[in-house]
Amino acid sequence: MKTPEFVKVVDVGPRDGLQNEPGLVPTASKVKLIEMLANCGVQAIEAGAFVSPKWVPQMADTADVFATLKRKSNVVYSALTPNLKGLDGALTSGVEEVAVFAAASETFSHKNINCSIKESIERFVPVCDAALAHGMRVRGYVSCVLGCPYEGDVSPNIVADVASQLVEAGCYEVSLGDTIGCGTAKGAAQMVDCVAKAISINRVAVHFHDTYGQALTNIFAVLPLGVATIDSSIAGLGGCPYAKGASGNVATEDVLYMLNGLGIETGIDMTGLLRASAFICRELGRLPSSKVARALNG
Ligand code: HMG
Ligand code: MG
Repeated sequence: MKTPEFVKVVDVGPRDGLQNEPGLVPTASKVKLIEMLANCGVQAIEAGAFVSPKWVPQMADTADVFATLKRKSNVVYSALTPNLKGLDGALTSGVEEVAVFAAASETFSHKNINCSIKESIERFVPVCDAALAHGMRVRGYVSCVLGCPYEGDVSPNIVADVASQLVEAGCYEVSLGDTIGCGTAKGAAQMVDCVAKAISINRVAVHFHDTYGQALTNIFAVLPLGVATIDSSIAGLGGCPYAKGASGNVATEDVLYMLNGLGIETGIDMTGLLRASAFICRELGRLPSSKVARALNG
């Protein structure tokens, strides 16, 4: 099987994971988690979100997180910015990479960002323009790429169309989110293939939630297509506040174990990653959903 030699792992746990916690996680714990991830070799970390605190109170301290964080020069710390107000926050915090987030389902788009898909793209164009003018890189997300909690099946052509619009707006990469983790390998590969034809495989990242236990299999199915960026979440934290029942992203520990087994480089040290996993699980008072963490930290 032909696979990439190096995979960029984007740990979205501090954002996608912690945004879904019922309680507020102390800023100091978030910062420590992000620093532990950076120290064990994770080179891309989604550290927070400049979103409305009324919508997602868990991310209200993102500016404090960035202010406290000791940043390493070889690590990219990114944040979500749904609009110009969010971008202002990111600029003030000295964030180098931001992400705009669209959906392939109208209903999800309304529930998540209170506007249609078309309106969201219109809103992202000035966000991308301003970010690029300030020398930031912009990542795009498409949610519900393999199914929507409200609308059911989603056509890969719609995903490809939204991804193309994000690239046109200035996104260097588009992360394809199986927000509710309902996809399986064949559909995941077909969807990625369809999107790659529209925006090139080099721009594709995958973001699989593990609700049905399919995330690793889906990653395995898309690696031979040339996907070389994988989003994952330390300890498998998370879900989505606007997608009831969705569980966390695939756990970073599980992705690393699989990639190590395939001989794919990531630059991440498993021992340090397991420490970060144990730390955040202790803070949250729960077990990791990562099977690898349970086996090795046990
Ligand atoms: P809205 O209510 O339509 O916006 O929300 P608005 O412009 O009318 O503003 C309402 C209030 O929010 C105002 O405050 C604004 O100032 C404030 P008020 O005057 O009422 O006191 N506001 C903000 N405050 C801080 N930062 C901002 C901001 N913008 C407005 N950036 C909005 C629209 C987009 C703001 C809102 O819907 C929102 O913040 N949504 C974010 C939802 C979210 O974070 N969802 C989770 C992340 S997406 C995800 O998890 C999926 C992903 O992981 C991929 C996958 O798995 O599929 C990425
Ligand atoms: Mg997500």
